[in-house]
Amino acid sequence: MSFLVQPPSPARPNRCQLFAPGSRPELFAKAALSAADVITLDLEDSVAPNDKPAAREAIIRAVSEIDWGSKTLSVRINGLDTPFWHRDAVELIARAGDRLDMIMLPKAGNAKDIYALDAVVSGVEAEIGRKRRVELEAIIETAAGSANVLEIAGASPRLKALHFGVADYAASMGMQITGIGGTQSGYGMLAPAETEGARGFFYADPWHDPITRMVAACRTYGLLPVDGPFGDFSDSDGYRAQATRSATLGCVGKWAIHPKQVAIANEVFTPSEAIHGQAKRILAAMEEAARQGQGAATLDGKLIDIASARQAQVIVRQMAVIRGEAV
Ligand code: COA
Ligand code: MG
Repeated sequence: MSFLVQPPSPARPNRCQLFAPGSRPELFAKAALSAADVITLDLEDSVAPNDKPAAREAIIRAVSEIDWGSKTLSVRINGLDTPFWHRDAVELIARAGDRLDMIMLPKAGNAKDIYALDAVVSGVEAEIGRKRRVELEAIIETAAGSANVLEIAGASPRLKALHFGVADYAASMGMQITGIGGTQSGYGMLAPAETEGARGFFYADPWHDPITRMVAACRTYGLLPVDGPFGDFSDSDGYRAQATRSATLGCVGKWAIHPKQVAIANEVFTPSEAIHGQAKRILAAMEEAARQGQGAATLDGKLIDIASARQAQVIVRQMAVIRGEAV
């Protein structure tokens, strides 16, 4: 371990983050009643330009009028390259009330983008004497955002989560694909030429590199890494596979753009009884080993050591966060 100790990430669940367009306020109450941990009301790309002012007003009303229960409530504002973002941020902080937990910045490109939003939010909070500081979260979804992900992650103590936005990332990178996320038919490797018989084609994950670097940046600064959308909400198996690989890589959750996806995300990002039980067995075995002055032990015929205990502690803390028992 470096001299710099890795900070813990916020102790709140973020397994499923359900989005609803700000221009469809009839969906807000349904989202509030869903099983998602986090709700994001959107002012950005699911809202047509002419509808932005009305959507902003609808969201400002909904923040205080709807009972959001114990959910984390965020609003995605427009990007810093638009004529909308400044008013989005100012009006939300000035008028939406204290129930708003987070503002989400899309298309973050560098640390200064976070600084700029932080400065505006701080200015309005100070002006109105807002008691709770709004938290920030940002989407990594451009070439610049991906290239600068580490400086973005460390840009502000207000920043609590980063998200991987797959469609804008693909566009920004010039990738030859359509659709929002998922397996890409063109990305993979053909079996070697000397293979006997038919040469199989093996699909690889085109999102592996940016999402893994985002997880590393988040873990460096104690932020929550969250996987973004999967557009084909009719393909539950595809969504489950993407979510499972994100959980395996260290993400704490994934977006849902349709209620169908909520239960799958909650299931995938909750450690199973089997893995949770195994983690507790590893910790018990390591405690016993420590009592005997050993740093390594055998469990089920396999080596476990102090690193195994660290892995197990991640699972146990994750479960405690989900059950509301962690700080
Ligand atoms: N939040 C809460 N409820 C939702 C919802 C959402 N995002 N999307 C759909 N529902 C509700 C519908 O109102 C409907 O409710 P009902 O059974 O009471 O009538 C039910 O879930 C089934 O919806 P369905 O008819 O299949 O969807 P739709 O055609 O109304 O809308 C989408 C489909 C994809 C347009 C819609 O889900 C949507 O706008 N999703 C969010 C998009 C978004 O925010 N994108 C930005 C981030 S990428
Ligand atoms: Mg986007």
